[in-house]
Amino acid sequence: MELYIVKDNIEGAQKGYEVIKAALESNTLKTIGLATGSTPLTLYDRIVNSDLDFSNVTSVNLDEYVGIPGTHPQSYRYFMNENLFNAKPFKQSFVPDGMNADEAAVSKEYEAIIEANPLDIQVLGIGSNGHIGFNEPGSSFDSITRKVALTKETIEANSRFFETIDEVPKYAYSMGIKDILGAKKILLFAYGASKADAIQRLFEGEVTEALPASALKNHKNVIVIVDEAAASKLSK
Ligand code: F6R
Repeated sequence: MELYIVKDNIEGAQKGYEVIKAALESNTLKTIGLATGSTPLTLYDRIVNSDLDFSNVTSVNLDEYVGIPGTHPQSYRYFMNENLFNAKPFKQSFVPDGMNADEAAVSKEYEAIIEANPLDIQVLGIGSNGHIGFNEPGSSFDSITRKVALTKETIEANSRFFETIDEVPKYAYSMGIKDILGAKKILLFAYGASKADAIQRLFEGEVTEALPASALKNHKNVIVIVDEAAASKLSK
């Protein structure tokens, strides 16, 4: 893994933007995997305020809450439309269908989408417990798209976006770790002190399903961009 320690999430966004721009300009970006959450917001803002053209690029999002429609302001489809797609149209944009209760059908459909659109770059954030996508600790490194139960920690972290904690969905559809590792290049961003433990364990701990992000150590092309607060627990 290649580590870049940046001053803040603006500098981190610029670094990520340059990687994506270079891939676009060399015609090697056909499909990009995208994440939601607060981490990629500055990257999406940088992209929106650029002249990059994604009209020939397919996007595939990592995850979606189960049980809320894409029109719900907290759905990840809505988030993507608001923060990126409305301003920067893509050729096609896939987000799992949180309203489809048929887990097997969602999984089959999403795996077919990923197979037909191999990920050139996957953008990732990281949970404070080391999750990537909604692959919580204990997820198999061989996992594919499936319905996952969110941990108490993740539900609590996400409750800031809902009026009450009871409204936070308890399940999500998530691409699996195997899907993520299938990307040619992975760009992981982490900002803030709440990510410092996860980043320390990622770089200085072992490869273990207890820290889903540690699976990235088995991949040969990973760029990790962290701010100083997220890097603060690294020993070197
Ligand atoms: C979101 C996702 C999650 C987030 C992670 C960090 O699509 O896959 O793994 O990247 O929960 O969230 P933030 O960025 O809000 O700290």
